[in-house]
Amino acid sequence: MGAGAVAAWAASPARAMLQAAGNLPVPAFIDALIAKMTVDEKAGQLTLLPAAWGGGVATALNPPTNGPSFEEQLADVEKGRLTGVFNGNGAEMARRMQTVAMTKSRLKIPLLFAADVIHGHRTIFPVPVGEAASFEPELAERTARMASYEGAAAGIDWTFAPMVDIARDQRWGRTMEGAGEDVLLGELIAVARVKGFQGKDLKANDAMLACFKHFAAYGAAEAGLDYNTVDVSERTLREVYLPPFKAALDAGALSGMASFNEISGVPSTANDWLMRKILREEWGFEGFVVSDYTGDMEMIDHGFAADAREATKLAFLAGVDMSMTSGFYRDHLPDLVAKGEVPMTVLDASVRRVLAMKAKLGLFDDPFRRIDVKREKARSRTKPAIALSREAGRKSIVMLKNDGDLLPLPKSGKRIAIIGPFAEGKHDINGPWVVYGDNAQAIDLASGVRAAVADKGAVSVALGSGVEAPLAGGIEAAVAAANAADVVILAIGEAENMSGEAQSRTEIVIPEPQMALAEAVAKTGKPIVAVLKNGRALALEGAVLNAGAILVTWFLGSEGGNATADVLFGDYSPAGRLPCSFPRSPGQQPYYYNHKPTGRPNPEGALQPYKAHYRGIPNSALFPFGHGLTYGKVAYSELSAPATLAWDGEITVSAKITNSGSRAIEEVVQLYIRDRVASVTRPVRELKAFRKLALAPGASETVTFKLSRAQLLFIGRENKPTVEPGLFDVWIAPSAEAEGVKAQFTLTA
Ligand code: GLC
Repeated sequence: MGAGAVAAWAASPARAMLQAAGNLPVPAFIDALIAKMTVDEKAGQLTLLPAAWGGGVATALNPPTNGPSFEEQLADVEKGRLTGVFNGNGAEMARRMQTVAMTKSRLKIPLLFAADVIHGHRTIFPVPVGEAASFEPELAERTARMASYEGAAAGIDWTFAPMVDIARDQRWGRTMEGAGEDVLLGELIAVARVKGFQGKDLKANDAMLACFKHFAAYGAAEAGLDYNTVDVSERTLREVYLPPFKAALDAGALSGMASFNEISGVPSTANDWLMRKILREEWGFEGFVVSDYTGDMEMIDHGFAADAREATKLAFLAGVDMSMTSGFYRDHLPDLVAKGEVPMTVLDASVRRVLAMKAKLGLFDDPFRRIDVKREKARSRTKPAIALSREAGRKSIVMLKNDGDLLPLPKSGKRIAIIGPFAEGKHDINGPWVVYGDNAQAIDLASGVRAAVADKGAVSVALGSGVEAPLAGGIEAAVAAANAADVVILAIGEAENMSGEAQSRTEIVIPEPQMALAEAVAKTGKPIVAVLKNGRALALEGAVLNAGAILVTWFLGSEGGNATADVLFGDYSPAGRLPCSFPRSPGQQPYYYNHKPTGRPNPEGALQPYKAHYRGIPNSALFPFGHGLTYGKVAYSELSAPATLAWDGEITVSAKITNSGSRAIEEVVQLYIRDRVASVTRPVRELKAFRKLALAPGASETVTFKLSRAQLLFIGRENKPTVEPGLFDVWIAPSAEAEGVKAQFTLTA
């Protein structure tokens, strides 16, 4: 903090009230401050804008706004017309803006700096759906913690993460940002990320305020089309889409973001049932809610508000405390209050939440606590961060198949051709949702492979094709490289710009030019390891599906090439499991493992007429949720499960897991149930627990899970949590469609 700023801050009314408040709880101090504020200043505290400084960083991942210049933004700060900015340009910008707030504004209320630190700040970790494949919430907590360590050092007090939207339709581009299709995994990852970002003390200079988003059901957009209509029942909302938000809130997340979409005709940004009934009354949420980007403005296009003033009134009265980007709140709230359309008490309640949050973040004690240019540099891309990125990368990789133990490859004695648009080049490594990371600092696949093998000269590279367009001469060169090699690594999939926000795809397949390349290379007869780059599940086919081995590597972040090489050459046995089902055909979307049986389920085996399946295609996954192979040979046996579970009782279900292979592995053992008969239809399987088990070669271990009726709850006919006596299937299995070992028990009343 500059000397001038320190002196001004020390003399400021806000500081004086804080000292006068002594140990009074924050509200009393805050109330005293609110009593001094004009209505314009109050509206200013509810106004967040993209940072004007930094050459478009602020709108790098959003539609560009013709926002103010940095000087105009400083003038806003001086007039108290701004609560903070997001996606700015680091500590120096924050220092400049905070100094104006502390030395020139009337009440010297500290600014809040926010950013989309989704999966890393300068050091980038795997995209969230990839990290969820680790089935290791503890890992997600560590990477979020490291992201906070770096981000908070850059002056960022608040991150717009975790995104906790359940995604059942892989056509939706933002599947990459969440934890996949399952509620339990979604809840556990949400908790982990909130704890990671916020740490143990929100006042610490390595803590950032977490923000659960996008509230709610953004992932239920019809046809996977981003921003599209959502029309789900209250029962589905409560059973599938809301639980991860509740989990994040219970983990202590103190901000939430309204989603762009409508639900059954009401845009979330003006949905008082969501923002007040659910969030405040049912869940007791004490934090504040921010609109998403221009979400308040978009209610005009939704045809839900006639103009900016009405959009402001609808959003604010519904319970959205703060407006992001549009500036509507500072433009229209004062007039709405003056005309009695917005009660002053409601305005004050929102201002109180925001100021209380600034106090919880320690900004009233020291507005510069996260602003230190030297610390920002010292904390960026440290060795522990890079090592963690490589660890997270390894653990996110899912091996779908490995015929004849093609993998792991030897580090010497084999000529390797890396073929495909993602074989080499500092692009498409970090993923589509990165504001501060730099692909140029990331490790590409060829670099990772070369670093791993004994003879770098044994590695050749041929791009073969573009991502979505052919490459002149590419296939010929690739075929020649394949013929000159002993094994091919096929580096194909999606580019960053094919995934993420506003990147819904009608066909979730490998682009045709890459398929042509794969087919040509396959004709050489060389063994092929397909290494997929993807932000969503893909419907694999042809030469890619017929490759000897397939690795799903998502967008792995800064250490992508090294992490992939660790698995390719056996320095790490793949342990990742699919957090989203890979379908047989893109036409099956939305497909999710915990679907209902319908009244005409197709029995095991051949397709039967007049049963619930597509023409010639079973309605099941090609690679199901929870699927993933290791370098071991794993067997499930000796299931033990009591025949009855007493109403107030608890049973232990166990099975023996054996690794008869020659390599140490980690196995993700999953517990599924099925409620056979209930007063509402129930899914064919529900994940209720999982355990990641390390098994040495030849080792066995008995895994036990506890089950009580609390885990058998569902949302009943009255849209309330319900559980009913009856028969249940229970599996301990390696995926949502694997038999594993199975038993039944009866819950007795
Ligand atoms: C974007 C996203 C949201 C993000 C916000 C700020 O449109 O929907 O996830 O946090 O705007 O960049």
